[in-house]
Amino acid sequence: MITGIGIDIVELSRIRRIDAKSPKFRERVLTEFEQAEYSRLTETRKAEFLAGRFAAKEAFSKAKGTGIGGACSFQDIEIRKDAKGKPSIYFKHMETGLVSITHSKEFAAAQVLLQTI
Ligand SMILES: CC(C)(COP(=O)(O)OP(=O)(O)OC[C@H]1O[C@@H](n2cnc3c(N)ncnc32)[C@H](O)[C@@H]1OP(=O)(O)O)[C@@H](O)C(=O)NCCC(=O)NCCS
Repeated sequence: MITGIGIDIVELSRIRRIDAKSPKFRERVLTEFEQAEYSRLTETRKAEFLAGRFAAKEAFSKAKGTGIGGACSFQDIEIRKDAKGKPSIYFKHMETGLVSITHSKEFAAAQVLLQTI
């Protein structure tokens, strides 16, 4: 049964601007595992990656119905990719939803679907 859907879109220029000022934003949004992935990317990919993860986490919080906050922080949500690049989304280390991420020159967007068996 589908229990929630969420979607989010983010401007890459906004993320690039915030990230250039200080590492605080990415340290708040990305888990340590994701920060290690981010550090290995080119500058162009860094902005896409950070914006995509931010959108996916906001989309997840909408699917859950909580928004980002005490019950669901950015650090509670982690996105991991398999060998082919397909992302999976984990909440408190448990695989919980289906996620899809996209980016163009100006935007990143993500969709999350939560389901129970
Ligand atoms: C829920 C949340 C993710 C919405 O994101 P947003 O960027 O403010 O707004 P968006 O335009 O993406 O989405 C707005 C829509 O989300 C939906 N929404 C709001 N609260 C929601 C909730 N608890 N559950 C599901 N959907 C929700 C609404 O439909 C809203 O549109 P509407 O007001 O026209 O009905 C947001 O409230 C939140 O928790 N943001 C965290 C922000 C944050 O910590 N930023 C700092 C970054 S370091």
